[in-house]
Amino acid sequence: MSDAPKLQEGAGWNAGVGARVAPSDRRGGTLRLVSSADVDSLDPARTYYVWVWLLQRLLNRTLMAYPTDPGPAGLVPVPDLAEGPGVASDGNRTWTYRLREGVLFDDGTPVTSADVRYAVQRIFAQDVLPGGPTYLVPLLDDPDRPYTGPYRDGVDGLPSVLTPDPRTIVFRLRSPFSDFDHLMAQPCVSPVPRHADTGARYGEDPRCTGPYRVAGHRPGSRLLLERNPHWDRATDPVRPALPDRVDVTIGLNPDDMDERLTAGEFDINLEGRGLQHAAQHRLAGDPVLRSRTDNPRTSFLHFVSLQPHIPPFDNVHVRRAVHHAADKVLLQEARGGPVTGGDLTTALFPPGLPSHQDLDRYPTGPGLRGDLDAARAELRAAGLPDGFDAVIGTQRGKFRLVADAVVESVARVGIRLTVKELDVATYFSQGAGSPETIRKHGLGMIVTDWGADFPTEYGFLAPLVDGRLIRPGGGNWNIAELDDPEVNRLIDTVLHTADPATRTDLWREVERRVMDHAVILPLVHDKTLHYRGPRATNVFVHPAFGLYDIQAMGVTETADRENDTV
Ligand code: ARG
Repeated sequence: MSDAPKLQEGAGWNAGVGARVAPSDRRGGTLRLVSSADVDSLDPARTYYVWVWLLQRLLNRTLMAYPTDPGPAGLVPVPDLAEGPGVASDGNRTWTYRLREGVLFDDGTPVTSADVRYAVQRIFAQDVLPGGPTYLVPLLDDPDRPYTGPYRDGVDGLPSVLTPDPRTIVFRLRSPFSDFDHLMAQPCVSPVPRHADTGARYGEDPRCTGPYRVAGHRPGSRLLLERNPHWDRATDPVRPALPDRVDVTIGLNPDDMDERLTAGEFDINLEGRGLQHAAQHRLAGDPVLRSRTDNPRTSFLHFVSLQPHIPPFDNVHVRRAVHHAADKVLLQEARGGPVTGGDLTTALFPPGLPSHQDLDRYPTGPGLRGDLDAARAELRAAGLPDGFDAVIGTQRGKFRLVADAVVESVARVGIRLTVKELDVATYFSQGAGSPETIRKHGLGMIVTDWGADFPTEYGFLAPLVDGRLIRPGGGNWNIAELDDPEVNRLIDTVLHTADPATRTDLWREVERRVMDHAVILPLVHDKTLHYRGPRATNVFVHPAFGLYDIQAMGVTETADRENDTV
């Protein structure tokens, strides 16, 4: 790379949020990406990292997909392998899709409805293929004859998914599900040909339907994608497929990564973890670097869960006292401040969703530093005017800083918290995500965050508050174990309501009711600071994912050195 691009100002701070930077349809060249972590899996059924879902958009097509659109339209799936959106009948219980003609796998075999059905069958084999989302299982399984996936001898069950002909697929759900098109946009339903399936090893050599296929993967160090010769642009309304190659360098430490990214060696940080402190510091004094940065919301909500099954948090007045006592400014600083921490919030839905509303059920005073009189009144109502002792659960690092800020906030009204750090690697599976662990350590409060698996109100809120979605065995996101029949009933009503305006109103009612329970103390809607290299074209933060839409990008020129083996 020459030094010339360094002198050139970028499109401006935040130019890639809600709009496209450097629009172009130039084809060719190599898009150079970098990541500290390796992919969780290249088997589309086994990935959960958001950035790998974005990478999957290069490799695989799904019946529906989020369009290449930086605006609000990006939140609504459009037909991809399908000819049109799902046709719903029977009150959102039956969903029918018709596949486009002429789509091939990268081995040249045609994609049929049986390959989509087979992908759905694989999701049921969680013993062989763990790691991906499983929303389809309860919707399609028969509890009286549970289906265990395609690998058990002689079982070809799943009568709820029908393929009357090679281009038609019909899903018969057990209960209505209005967001079904969103589930059909998740990578786990990318078609898999039975003839190529190697079970747990499929990710080592996956068949692809997108514009690219895997040319090589050296785990922990490099991933190279090349054009899929059997992808036909004419059948794909979503993907511009501009570069000839996508080269991912894996395994750099975050500061090294930032250094080499801003020096021009890479175009984009694929993983999207955002610039670290050192780079943020350099940015402050460098208008050129600053003009190449975006500061979007990630759609993650940071919050503290209050646990009604751990006394004295069983008393709603105790939970409300904590809400009023929260020093919101201190908590935001603990998260990293307004730029890399996030936007303060007193409500739950991220601002991009239609049901987002201004809701401040537990005001914290004009300076947002806490309304201590209101907190004390709640403590008196709970019969605990002098406060009490309790434990807050967290993990080391940023979550610990949040816990410390909570401790400081509530100490002002006599609530004496001790901090319990749980293991980072298993925090969501066996720590905060395990009702048993919470009881074992008597955790009355827990620091956590959450991002939706698909950008709808259901995708965002149901896992946090629907009593039927509590997972006693771990990986539980309804951490407070809220099981309010009225909340559950409202959610069911939305799932078979077709009218969007009515659904928006119903979700607002759910949110108000959840806030009444005071089991979720919202802190911030998370934000990150991303750098876009000057070679990259069509750069924008995808509204459905909160990270750059890698598949939309091209490059303005060919890099000096290109090396297409791993
Ligand atoms: N729901 C998971 C979490 O909050 C993952 C969210 C982002 N990943 C995704 N593929 N949408 O940790």
